[in-house]
Amino acid sequence: MNITKAQNLACPIDGKKLKQTDKQYVCENGHTFDIARQGYVNLLPVQHKRSKQPGDSKAMVLARTDFLNAGYYQAVAEKLTEMVSAQIINDNSINHNEHCILDAGCGEGYYFDFIFNALKNETGVGKLSFIGLDISKDAVIQAAKRNKQISWVVGTNRQPPVEEKSVDIILCLFGFISFDGFYKTVKPGGKIIIVDPGAEHLKELREIIYPEIKKPDQQRSLQTENTGFSLVHSEKLQFKVNIANKTQINNLLLMTPHFYRASKAGREVACNLQQLDLTIDVVFSVLEKS
Ligand SMILES: C[S@@+](CC[C@H](N)C(=O)[O-])C[C@H]1O[C@@H](n2cnc3c(N)ncnc32)[C@H](O)[C@@H]1O
Repeated sequence: MNITKAQNLACPIDGKKLKQTDKQYVCENGHTFDIARQGYVNLLPVQHKRSKQPGDSKAMVLARTDFLNAGYYQAVAEKLTEMVSAQIINDNSINHNEHCILDAGCGEGYYFDFIFNALKNETGVGKLSFIGLDISKDAVIQAAKRNKQISWVVGTNRQPPVEEKSVDIILCLFGFISFDGFYKTVKPGGKIIIVDPGAEHLKELREIIYPEIKKPDQQRSLQTENTGFSLVHSEKLQFKVNIANKTQINNLLLMTPHFYRASKAGREVACNLQQLDLTIDVVFSVLEKS
């Protein structure tokens, strides 16, 4: 694989193409964005922020890094890599030798780095560029430590700071889906791969922290009507992991929205568990831009 840095970042103020200099990105209207010493660029202007420190907190980011590095979700990363690779290899578009992949809500970069390292050794995937985007500066700082060849960006999925119709595949894992933002960004015929929790996901933990858990038919399902995308493929992955480590059970709780939603009593019980047999149940959906 031939890896290039992303050439399609765009100014979050006027949408113009950004050119990279030594230490900055600059658009033709003179808006400049410094490249931080950690190697990422902040393309989230204050007018796009809905809070002072949007997205996941540093504590959530560190908990997720620790948990994911332990490999509990590696099968999810492997399945995702397989799907991304298949999309690239089976792409029949004109520029099928050159692909840009955007991880929208990349978090601390575990999955994107995993995919990068797997594709790096694959033949037949042509020229690739990788953009990892997250609204949390702490998440992007952590992600930038994982991989120096990915273009890491602080920004929002509502208005991804990339040129219109310049991305081949958007990944959105357990994240905030903005069909409007994704539609503008993806090339015609381009794909979104969404990874969502399935009905049984983390059910053993949910049974502990909530008085009652949602039935499968009460779970949210992916709605694609009037989004400009249609579902072309869906796949489920379910497996069990044993977490025999109190710290990792705490990390898991902290990295999910369950930490804030759980009752105080439920949280206390979960935090004191010494081990947990856990179901991982995720749904992969591939959507194509119509
Ligand atoms: C549950 S985490 C998932 C992170 C990563 N995809 C993973 O699976 O490890 C959701 C991520 O979405 C980010 N996020 C929330 N709102 C966002 C937005 N509007 N634009 C981009 N990222 C956002 C959060 O900061 C957080 O890192």
